[in-house]
This record gives sequence, C-alpha cells and structure tokens, in this order.
Amino acid sequence: MDPQRATRVALVGAGFIADFHLEILKRLEGVTVVAVGDVDGARAAALAKRHGVAQSFASLAELIEKAKPDVAHVVVPPDLHASVARELLEAGVGVFLEKPMATAAADARALVELARTKHLALGVNQNQTFHPGFVALKRMLAEGKLGRIDHVFACLSVPLRQLQSRDFSHWMFRAPQNIVFEQAAHPLSQLVELFGPCRDVAAVPAPAAAPTPSARQRRPAWPSARVRPRPVRRIRNPGRRCARAR
Ligand SMILES: NC(=O)c1ccc[n+]([C@@H]2O[C@H](COP(=O)([O-])OP(=O)(O)OC[C@H]3O[C@@H](n4cnc5c(N)ncnc54)[C@H](O)[C@@H]3O)[C@@H](O)[C@H]2O)c1
Repeated sequence: MDPQRATRVALVGAGFIADFHLEILKRLEGVTVVAVGDVDGARAAALAKRHGVAQSFASLAELIEKAKPDVAHVVVPPDLHASVARELLEAGVGVFLEKPMATAAADARALVELARTKHLALGVNQNQTFHPGFVALKRMLAEGKLGRIDHVFACLSVPLRQLQSRDFSHWMFRAPQNIVFEQAAHPLSQLVELFGPCRDVAAVPAPAAAPTPSARQRRPAWPSARVRPRPVRRIRNPGRRCARAR
C-alpha cells in the first residue's frame, strides 16, 4: 500500500457503537472513511448521513467490491464477528474487530491464521486496556510500587446501557452466556494485559445477585433453581492466550 495515500476504512455494522468508531476515525490523519454497511440498509444510510460518509451498503460483498476498503472495522454482534471478518480477510481487506474477537477460541485462531496467510492486519478493540486509570495501575505495577501481586479482583461496574434503555432485542439478552462475551471481555482483557496469557480458567457460577439486606426487602427472592451453585468447571489451556468455559 502506498504510504502517501490515505487508508480507506469501512465500517461494518451501524448499531450503538458505530458512532463512536466514526467519531474517532474522522479525527485520524491519513484515514478516509469510504463506506458503512449494515444488513439493515436504512440504518447504514442514516449512519452514513450523520457522519458525512459517501457510501452505504446493505451487502458486505457489494461494500467490498464498490468501496474497495483497505481495512474494515467490524462492529456487528459478537456471534457474527468470525464470519464477517473471514469474508473481509478472504477479499484482501484488513480487519479491526470489536471485542470479543469471536465467540469460540477455534474461530479466533482461524482468523489469526487467515490474516497471517494473507499478510493482512487483524486487531481487536480492547479499549478498557487504554483507560487512564488502568494505564496508571499498569505503570505503578511496572515501577514496583505495588509489590508482589497475590491476586486481582477485576470488577466491571458501569451501568448497562442496553438494560437502562430497555433494548431487550440486543444480542446480549438472547442467551445467558452472551453477557460474558459482551461484558466480561473488558475485565478479562485487563487481566491478560497485566499478567500475560492465561494457563488455566475456572468458572464459578454464583447467584446472579447477592442482595444486600435492603435490596432483599425490595426484591422478590430468586427462584432457588437459579441461585443453586453449580460445580466449578476448570479448563486447562497451557500456552494458549485464552480459554473459554463450555
Ligand atoms: N468496546 C466497547 O466498549 C463496546 C461497547 C459496545 C459494543 N461493543 C461491541 O460492538 C459490537 C456491536 O455492538 P452494538 O452494541 O453496536 O450492537 P448493535 O446490536 O447495536 O448493532 C449491531 C449492528 O450490526 C448489524 N448487523 C447484524 N448482522 C450484520 C451483518 N451480517 N452484516 C452487517 N451488519 C450486521 C445490525 O443490523 C446492527 O445494526 C459488539 O461486538 C459489541 O461487543 C463494544
């Protein structure tokens, strides 16, 4: 690619997070956003209009053929990351995926292999590893200010936007495990950033809510089937960058 020429970027997926990507992309030097795509063509067109992007498409194949992007940001629901990224990579387009990279480790590894074979860039947006508070923590750790770390408790404590807006059609609410892919990717990415690849993963299903006495008074009790602890599932995964509970 000619280093003098602006990088042609497309955005695939025109949902909630798409505006954030476009706001940043528009501020980057050497980048031209050439197209946005979404299976919902009207949504893609509205997003393109909001951000002054020249072209929008309802078909990924058409976007690739007509807009000729160098790179595409993939911001579709997580279960579609692998298939959309594969189509782009096979067509010679570099890919920047929203987290999580895929919903199965085998799919993530296959994407890495495909990008390597095609000599294309492949990245994942783990934005919480750039949070100023986290960056400060990393610095303190590197400077030895925290001593030897025994264990880390990573707590993602932010309002769940889709819950607040009562957007129950969102992918996250379609199956219980989706909350892990959608939200836990953030604290897990921070743990890997701090301490490197994980060797062993244990998932301990716990009661979804451990109500405080005051909350217990306000809420009905959880049905017992929901709160009964299930056995710990442990996955040994030596040498891998990540593992997942099945
Ligand atoms: N890094 C973060 O802080 C952060 C925050 C929110 C969402 N995300 C990630 O961004 C991604 C999208 O999340 P969202 O909340 O914007 O979802 P969303 O449901 O609001 O939007 C997804 C969009 O993808 C479109 N789509 C579905 N299938 C498609 C296909 N095959 N081709 C093209 N478009 C298709 C849908 O029509 C929809 O417009 C997810 O991976 C999510 O985890 C990351």
